[in-house]
Amino acid sequence: MIKVGIVGTGGIAEWHASAFKDNKNSDVVAACDVNNDRLNEFCDKFNIDHRYNSVDELLEQSDVDAISNTTPDAFHKEISIKAIEKNKHIFCEKPLAENYADAKLMCDALKGKNLINMVNFSYRNSSGYQELCKMVKEGKIGNIMHMDANYNQSWLTSNYWGNWKEQDKWLWRLSTNHGSKGTLGDIGVHIFDFASRPIGKIKKLNSFLKTFHSKGEKIKDYILDANDTFLSMVEFDNGAIGTINATRFATGYSNRLELRIFGDKGAVKIEFDDPINEGNKFMFTNDTEREFSSKKDKLKWEEINCPPSPTNFERFIESIESNTNHEPDFDRGAEIQNILDKCYESSELGHWIDIN
Ligand SMILES: NC(=O)c1ccc[n+]([C@@H]2O[C@H](COP(=O)([O-])OP(=O)(O)OC[C@H]3O[C@@H](n4cnc5c(N)ncnc54)[C@H](O)[C@@H]3O)[C@@H](O)[C@H]2O)c1
Repeated sequence: MIKVGIVGTGGIAEWHASAFKDNKNSDVVAACDVNNDRLNEFCDKFNIDHRYNSVDELLEQSDVDAISNTTPDAFHKEISIKAIEKNKHIFCEKPLAENYADAKLMCDALKGKNLINMVNFSYRNSSGYQELCKMVKEGKIGNIMHMDANYNQSWLTSNYWGNWKEQDKWLWRLSTNHGSKGTLGDIGVHIFDFASRPIGKIKKLNSFLKTFHSKGEKIKDYILDANDTFLSMVEFDNGAIGTINATRFATGYSNRLELRIFGDKGAVKIEFDDPINEGNKFMFTNDTEREFSSKKDKLKWEEINCPPSPTNFERFIESIESNTNHEPDFDRGAEIQNILDKCYESSELGHWIDIN
């Protein structure tokens, strides 16, 4: 039984607690939060006895095998490195860090340690996406020429997820002083992983980030200065080109990912709000021989349904048991962080930037 300690008992931690409790090979035995009321509410709900207000106490006093780091972005580095130094396997929320330099420090801390490390790029839980990646890598759509990917959220234009103007859990995401890297750091990190994994390394990019709140605009002590939306053009090492975009202003979409990849022999596409229940399928076409006969005779796409694949939580526990680090590991988290840093640089300078 792998004993997990959760650090940061906010919104996403509920998902971690359920997943590690539901897994017959793991349990959540300790939790920590700087907010004591929240800590107690969470521990009561998930039946967790060992409760701490600092990660140092948790690491000293509990006997966990692994830490699930579900604190806000600004604490990912410090808490993960502390856990690694105490020889705990580490499952960290995305983004891995606030920048590439910090992400590298987290990877460096793992050197010489036999510890499983994983970053929660949660859209990898989609079995349709896993199969799509396999198909593209096996060459089923030929050489990749073109792609586009979008991550559309609407919490700045709708109340679907609650009123962002009143709740700290949304406001910190709009404020660089509170460790947010905006839409790019929050959901851009997902869509860059999602878009590039089936295709390969990004060689160069040209990004444009925009903040719609006026300069100095504030709610409570949150200055609303983080980017709200971004567009990126990319070129991959294999020559393919495409666009990768994300926004929090996509009215009509609560939380939607879309990816289309076009090769010289076929194409694939996938889109969903929820990776597990809706992400269990994708579309494929190799309908290249058909000649136009009538407007009714559309080019054909085949729906490919996929059995469930293991979630990141399941693969983390399996990794510890088998001592084989499954994807996505800290190195992948750092690779994506490097791409994000280059997006900020490109947007500031107003031109293309090479990734390496
Ligand atoms: N993988 C995903 O799809 C996904 C989805 C949502 C959030 N996230 C990530 O999860 C992380 C947390 O997001 P959230 O929505 O749960 O935020 P949240 O604000 O709801 O919860 C964060 C919790 O951490 C606590 N905390 C802050 N500093 C701490 C510290 N030093 N030690 C211990 N506890 C501390 C806060 O009191 C709060 O209870 C973020 O990095 C976010 O990007 C990932």
